Amino acid sequence: MRYSVKRSKDLSDKEIELILKSWEIENWLDLDASSFKIKFQNSEFHLLEIDSKIVSLARINFDFKLEIQKNLYNFAEFVGFVSIEKMKGYGSFLLNKIVANLTERKIETIGFCKMDLRQFYEKNNIKILYGKGIFITEFENNEWIDSDDDDILIINTSEENINILQNLNEQNKAILI
Ligand SMILES: CC(C)(COP(=O)(O)OP(=O)(O)OC[C@H]1O[C@@H](n2cnc3c(N)ncnc32)[C@H](O)[C@@H]1OP(=O)(O)O)[C@@H](O)C(=O)NCCC(=O)NCCS
Repeated sequence: MRYSVKRSKDLSDKEIELILKSWEIENWLDLDASSFKIKFQNSEFHLLEIDSKIVSLARINFDFKLEIQKNLYNFAEFVGFVSIEKMKGYGSFLLNKIVANLTERKIETIGFCKMDLRQFYEKNNIKILYGKGIFITEFENNEWIDSDDDDILIINTSEENINILQNLNEQNKAILI
């Protein structure tokens, strides 16, 4: 198994095609390689390969800012996590590599998930801020839209910032900038 981290500019056309297919995001399916590289120029891609075949992948998004009580927080966002071949341990293996990588590089990172994946993250010893994902909100098309993810995942975050996220509630939301 080979774990690697690549910037979008270093991905091959074939890899980009596979990533887009695995994400299943309709609006993005038609992105060509050069548009993909520009769109995700502030992301890195964490890949797990077997025999040069990607079996699990995730994106770390550096274009991510939260405003909480007028303060700006520059977390990286763990997103786009998917195993091409599921239930073979690849997702867990990759997740552990990612946590170690970001911790070593001191990159504060959070992610989001729906309730049904709690068991997966608990098994992998990821700290979950239960029910805090819904307090992330975004102003889009002239209205406030709350996130539909239930939980916040602590991938690598200082105790101080965990406390700030833990204190989110209906009256104290985090605004996605
Ligand atoms: C989440 C995901 C990446 C996990 O990858 P994976 O390679 O299948 O996971 P693993 O094989 O390492 O699973 C390890 C354990 O987690 C559990 N698990 C895996 N996927 C699960 C799921 N969707 N729901 C609940 N438990 C799950 C497994 O039962 C397994 O437990 P076991 O070791 O006791 O059998 C994969 O299910 C996936 O691609 N899902 C679709 C996209 C998605 O939801 N991404 C996450 C967004 S936050």
